[in-house]
Amino acid sequence: MKKVFFSIIIGLSMLAHANAFEGDAKAGKTKAATCAGCHGTNGIGIMGSYPNIAGQHADYIVKQLKAFKAGTDRSDPVMSPMAAALSEQDMADVAAYFASFGRDGSAPAGAETAATDNDAAATPAQVKRAPAKAAYVANAASGKALYEHGDTTRGITACIDCHGKEGNSQVLINPNLSAQHPEYIEKQLKAFKAETRHNASMNQISGNLSDEDIANLGAYFKDPAAVGEVKASAAKVVVKSFTGDVAEGKIKAATCAACHGADGNALVAMYPSLAGQSEAYLVKQITDFKTGTRQDPVMAGMVAALSADDIQNISAYFASQTLNPAIAESNERGKSLYLSGNAKTGITACVACHSISGKGMDKAGFPAVAGQSATYLKSQLEKFRTKARTNDTNSMMQNIALKLTKKDIEAVANYMASLK
Ligand code: HEC
Ligand code: HEC
Ligand code: HEC
Ligand code: HEC
Repeated sequence: MKKVFFSIIIGLSMLAHANAFEGDAKAGKTKAATCAGCHGTNGIGIMGSYPNIAGQHADYIVKQLKAFKAGTDRSDPVMSPMAAALSEQDMADVAAYFASFGRDGSAPAGAETAATDNDAAATPAQVKRAPAKAAYVANAASGKALYEHGDTTRGITACIDCHGKEGNSQVLINPNLSAQHPEYIEKQLKAFKAETRHNASMNQISGNLSDEDIANLGAYFKDPAAVGEVKASAAKVVVKSFTGDVAEGKIKAATCAACHGADGNALVAMYPSLAGQSEAYLVKQITDFKTGTRQDPVMAGMVAALSADDIQNISAYFASQTLNPAIAESNERGKSLYLSGNAKTGITACVACHSISGKGMDKAGFPAVAGQSATYLKSQLEKFRTKARTNDTNSMMQNIALKLTKKDIEAVANYMASLK
């Protein structure tokens, strides 16, 4: 969990610095000469294990080079020393150079950028690739279904939400996956799954992917346009598992029912629903109330007598229940804040931690906010803003709430409440 937090902090700080240097594609062309041996002069990798970086978002390229250089979120025996030799200006320049090509390595229209000579565009056709060894016959249609619809029963968010249609992402920090080597995509998904490459969203999502899913996603990217329409994959019933004892927890939770509901669905708007919330998050909150790290006169008394086992079991019980989402209206201001933050005022997008669906990231202890009572969500944002609630690790919520106006809080709370 520490690692996940750490990786998020680094990731977010890099986000903020990604644009500190303006890239110059012409200067980048000269500097990119050392990259050509593997990534091609036009950013088309010469082998399946060398990613295509042609037409990749410059912000994303810079972020990856910094990650390789720092070695915290990503390391690779080949790339780490390459990146170590680059200054931030070099990174910005080579990123601008590779970003100036089309995703297929084609020279950019206008030709004022670095790719003026046609030498660059000539390479892709000559690429020879060894056929991938097939242990499992991958299914591109299943890969597409997972890509476009995810699989909620297994906690897999649809990739399309972040990486865009057929892998062309609209968000500059989310990489394009279109025209990428399938082998490379599979390798990265395995690295995220094994957590040798760090990114909170991707570690969470790939943790739920099977080897077959990964092979299917790779197969889809061999030629995304070739796969026809797909429906969501048939829902599979999964048995969720909890650390605590759900049955024991149910007995102990009887005293909580008056305010949080017997099944964790609160009937009064000022009380939070606990049904379906992350078990790890609930354990942390109850413990924080008990130790006074999170202060609330009502809750302090309610949990004072609970043992560590009681806390684990009660949390497991509420986590195992199903949330009846609040009825609330979505709104544009809240949606935009939630999904994109506000670069001007430095508000980090909520989606980075609370996820697209608002279901949070249970592994990292980031709470679900979808369908929670808007009144309660508003009260918590106010409390973080005024430092009446300070139990968030590294003050991550206080720093964000500080920058929210009253109107922002109203809007984003309603948006979160409206998520199903
Ligand atoms: C000797 C081969 C080699 C050279 C030279 C090389 N790279 Fe790489 N590069 C790789 C490999 C292999 C990976 C994939 C690492 C992994 O699997 O995580 C990679 C990954 C990357 C990525 C991440 C791509 C993504 O989609 O996440 C970027 C960006 C990158 N290289 C840029 C560069 C730049 C810029 C240079 C020149 C300064 C360079 N590379 C030189 C082999 C090379
Ligand atoms: C919540 C947003 C989000 C979702 C959903 C998501 N991704 Fe990602 N993905 C990212 C981000 C952000 C990165 C870049 C991580 C980094 O900076 O190292 C990434 C990186 C990747 C990479 C590495 C790309 C490269 O060039 O190295 C692959 C492959 C990938 N994602 C595949 C998937 C697949 C397949 C799914 C669906 C099963 C998925 N992603 C769902 C946000 C997301
Ligand atoms: C008399 C009403 C009342 C009772 C009974 C009660 N709570 Fe609470 N609970 C609250 C209030 C009010 C809050 C919001 C506190 C705040 O604003 O920080 C809360 C917040 C919580 C939270 C934090 C939820 C989140 O999303 O962060 C948890 C967890 C919780 N209660 C667990 C319990 C448990 C377990 C019990 C039984 C042992 C219990 N509560 C009994 C009123 C109650
Ligand atoms: C860097 C990660 C991160 C980002 C970005 C983030 N949050 Fe949070 N948020 C958290 C964590 C972690 C907690 C739980 C803190 C704790 O342990 O008490 C939290 C708690 C909350 C809570 C209280 C939930 C409850 O049940 O009591 C609300 C509401 C919330 N966040 C809203 C937002 C909004 C709105 C945004 C965007 C403007 C946002 N968050 C951005 C990490 C984040």
